[in-house]
Amino acid sequence: MAITYDEKTKIFKLDSAHTSYMIGIVDQEQFVGHIYYGAKLRMQDALYLMRTEENPFVPSVNNRERCSFMDTFPMEYPGHGAGDYREGCIRVRTKEGHSVVSLTYQSHEIVDGKPALEGLPASFAKDGECQTLILTCRDQVLGLEAELLYSVFEKEDVITRSVRIINAGEQDIYLTKVYSACIDMDDRDYEWLMLHGSWARERQIERKKIGYGKQSVGSVRGESSHQEHPFLAWMDPQTTQKQGEVYAMHFVYSGNFTAQIEKSQFDSIRVTMGINAEDFCWKLNQGEAFTAPEVVLTYSEAGLGNMTRNLHDFYRNHMIRSKYAHSKRPILINNWEATYFDFDTEKLLAIARKAAELGIEMLVMDDGWFGNRNDDSTSLGDWFVNEKKITGGLKHLVDGVNKLGLKFGIWMEPEMISPDSRLYEEHPDWALAVPGREAALSRNQYVLDLSRKEVRDYVYESVAAILRSANIEYVKWDMNRQLSDMGSFALPADRQGELYHRYVLGVYELQERLITEFPDLLLENCSGGGARFDPGMLYYSPQIWCSDDTDAVERLKIQEGTALIYPLSSIGAHVSVCPNHTVGRNTPFETRGNVALAGTFGYELDITTIPKENQDLIPKQVALYHKYNDLVREGDYYRIASYQENHEYDCYLVVSKDKREALVTFVQVIGRPNFHSRCICLQGLDPEQNYRIEGKDRLFGGDLLMKAGLLMDDLWGDAQSRLYHLVAEAQDEIK
Ligand code: GLA
Repeated sequence: MAITYDEKTKIFKLDSAHTSYMIGIVDQEQFVGHIYYGAKLRMQDALYLMRTEENPFVPSVNNRERCSFMDTFPMEYPGHGAGDYREGCIRVRTKEGHSVVSLTYQSHEIVDGKPALEGLPASFAKDGECQTLILTCRDQVLGLEAELLYSVFEKEDVITRSVRIINAGEQDIYLTKVYSACIDMDDRDYEWLMLHGSWARERQIERKKIGYGKQSVGSVRGESSHQEHPFLAWMDPQTTQKQGEVYAMHFVYSGNFTAQIEKSQFDSIRVTMGINAEDFCWKLNQGEAFTAPEVVLTYSEAGLGNMTRNLHDFYRNHMIRSKYAHSKRPILINNWEATYFDFDTEKLLAIARKAAELGIEMLVMDDGWFGNRNDDSTSLGDWFVNEKKITGGLKHLVDGVNKLGLKFGIWMEPEMISPDSRLYEEHPDWALAVPGREAALSRNQYVLDLSRKEVRDYVYESVAAILRSANIEYVKWDMNRQLSDMGSFALPADRQGELYHRYVLGVYELQERLITEFPDLLLENCSGGGARFDPGMLYYSPQIWCSDDTDAVERLKIQEGTALIYPLSSIGAHVSVCPNHTVGRNTPFETRGNVALAGTFGYELDITTIPKENQDLIPKQVALYHKYNDLVREGDYYRIASYQENHEYDCYLVVSKDKREALVTFVQVIGRPNFHSRCICLQGLDPEQNYRIEGKDRLFGGDLLMKAGLLMDDLWGDAQSRLYHLVAEAQDEIK
């Protein structure tokens, strides 16, 4: 049983393989308090941890200090405005203009399985994999109910949380804030870790001390964003990849978010995560419910590496639904960096012919095939094939590519509208805008109002019609600007505050429809690179384009931050041309390939014009992909060394679940004078097994490789790399 309730103490205990989470109820007042989250414990009376016996006592004993009680009590789901001055999770506006919410225990239920969340992406489980606690709390004055949902995924050491707010009161009400999760605990001089970034610099790791007051990351850009990420972890300052305590919270949502740690006057911390309350106001009519998105929690006592592996397993097994989740993706070639907007059928077929020769398996036609789109100033919304470029039509091209033995994929940006488009001429009110105010352009485009059903239907039919018209097996769904000028011509005044969230729900609905009608489609999400790389999008697409920066060295940092929390199978990574189009750097073709192998793998350059010696390397890289992808996609990932930290070299390895195979990637970013071979201690191997390393004429003990290390080959020059493939051999003696 993952979830138990002790009638006597009124303690709920949620157990995964290595962690426990305990919730208590205060006797008279019925406040729902947080007792403990961390390493696994036996069931016992731990109510003292809520400190209800201490000064200032619970209100039933000492009501004159009710505020002091409220301001210190470790709440599972804090309300607003009733004496707890720390960050609350829920706030309302009533007809009379009041905002106070105070929730107390009402009832609970423990159920098998994982409930779906209406209209939202959410983890799922097979029979026997998960149990859920539904704790219903109530504000007695408002008649508002909050169902706190906790699902325990024992094997992956993950607990998910979400909240359903039900208006069981007498009047319609406005929700002005609904977060999804909160954890109150004592601070132990923790540090916190966040992922920040920018276009072409996504998910860079930053770690810093938690100070008094509030520290947060968030997005008000309408998407999870390049800039900050819906994730945070907090940990012991001594925590490394291999050891130490770490807690993590990750938001399954693709829009505005807040993730915050607040350190109080009494050295406790409150960690909260949810939809960003800025500009959020949801009208909840009597009898209606609002579901807040899911938060993924994990705790590791064995360092950041273990946190990473918990999350990788969790997303691979319980979030990614595609039939491609556990299978090899076709090696693709995308024409964006090869041609940009300047291509036609002949050019694409020439690339496809060469690609077929070299072992590439799919051609993806990127931006520029529709309307009059020869640059980024026009045509978004006009999803009609430009037959001047695609002579003979789309089906002719797709059939031609298929005849060469390649699959065909296509790029679309369905959420957008160019002011210079037929669609905008016909429906200017379909773009987000505030009447009387010129909306801000970004990359020359506006955003469609996906809160409107007729707009969603148009968008859906545009995408589906293209897919129905030819044998298209892959879609890159792009989103190249962030939201602004939040006004909908369709929503009433008191619902404009719902627009950000309704937009995200609209995206989810569209992608759900798409994968329902086209269940075999390989969908890759993208947003100006990796601005909408989040667990929410993974529910619809098994892979996401990681960054527009395809430089192998920059990618080491971007992919390190991404792989800290996302499985390698989800990370879109391609080999591109040099000098690199984003940073102008030259790196060896081998290294570009080796770095892209730690992702979905593909190409994004004009293979008809690159030097012959690079062309010749492609079949070799293709063979490496086929040889290693099962391992890379399904294995356990260990981060050994970080170029971001040491500024010299990068190293990681993937070990198969049975520990019989491993692949080490080593990149020497900066060459080193007077070199003495670098000795690197591996991780994750079986100390009892002996491994043969391809290309080396002997066996190595797993214990030796982990404790004493493997000598890296001497490499000459910058951005040089090596792959080391280890296979366990059933031989007792090491010769
Ligand atoms: C975005 C994507 C690129 C490419 C262009 C096309 O920037 O991230 O990969 O598809 O759009 O306009």
